[in-house]
Amino acid sequence: MSEKVYFVGAGPGDPKLITLRGKELLEEADLVIYTGSLVDPAVAAFGGGAVINSHGLTLDELTDLMVGAISDGKKVVRLHTGDPSLYGAICEQIAALKRHNIDFEIIPGVSSVFAASAALKTQLTLSGITETLIITRPAGETLEADSIRELSRHGATMAIFLGASKIARIMEEVEYPPATPVAVVYRASWQDEQIIRGTVADIAEKVESAGIERSAMILIGDVVHPKSFGRSHLYGSQ
Ligand SMILES: C[S@@+](CC[C@H](N)C(=O)[O-])C[C@H]1O[C@@H](n2cnc3c(N)ncnc32)[C@H](O)[C@@H]1O
Repeated sequence: MSEKVYFVGAGPGDPKLITLRGKELLEEADLVIYTGSLVDPAVAAFGGGAVINSHGLTLDELTDLMVGAISDGKKVVRLHTGDPSLYGAICEQIAALKRHNIDFEIIPGVSSVFAASAALKTQLTLSGITETLIITRPAGETLEADSIRELSRHGATMAIFLGASKIARIMEEVEYPPATPVAVVYRASWQDEQIIRGTVADIAEKVESAGIERSAMILIGDVVHPKSFGRSHLYGSQ
């Protein structure tokens, strides 16, 4: 039986936050191709096979690598940060594999949005505050226009990926009250994790003074610093 390409979620950073299945596949892989700076090379190197950083590779070069290895009967793991389904660009890789009749499987991972909420020791949905989480990103090099202003009108918790360098513009756009809590979690779950807390009115200045421009999650909403919330009724009323 020919081998598959396994798209594996590496988790947010801490090597212990990969799934058991993900680790097992890494141990069995002949070739691991991992994405740039947000995957700890220690995770990519869990196995004894070849390890390649995909930073700077074109889609065609990446496809050639995967197709070549599969044709040689090798097991390939394509390792993505966090969970592969969020801003991971896996669908274009999958389309290329399908053109070569190569089978694939996706192994989920712990997204950085959840590592960030864990770092803040909160819940992203909280009874009496909001039952809704919006995941989005600002416009930038690879996205022409975003919907951050419209989305902010829902008053839900908002998790903004890929936004650290654009935080001033984002805070100008959102229509939350200026005192709404905001936290920026830099490299959640890594050894050098940093949490910056503030409000819609002052977080941009704090993040800019800390020199944080990438690898950070922006979380906006009262859940970031809940003053009061309702009980969930999960544990009864007492
Ligand atoms: C290309 S996206 C990949 C997201 C990834 N698939 C996930 O589920 O976390 C990269 C962005 O994810 C966020 N990110 C990834 N790892 C992070 C971490 N450990 N701490 C905070 N944010 C992180 C940052 O916003 C970063 O700019």
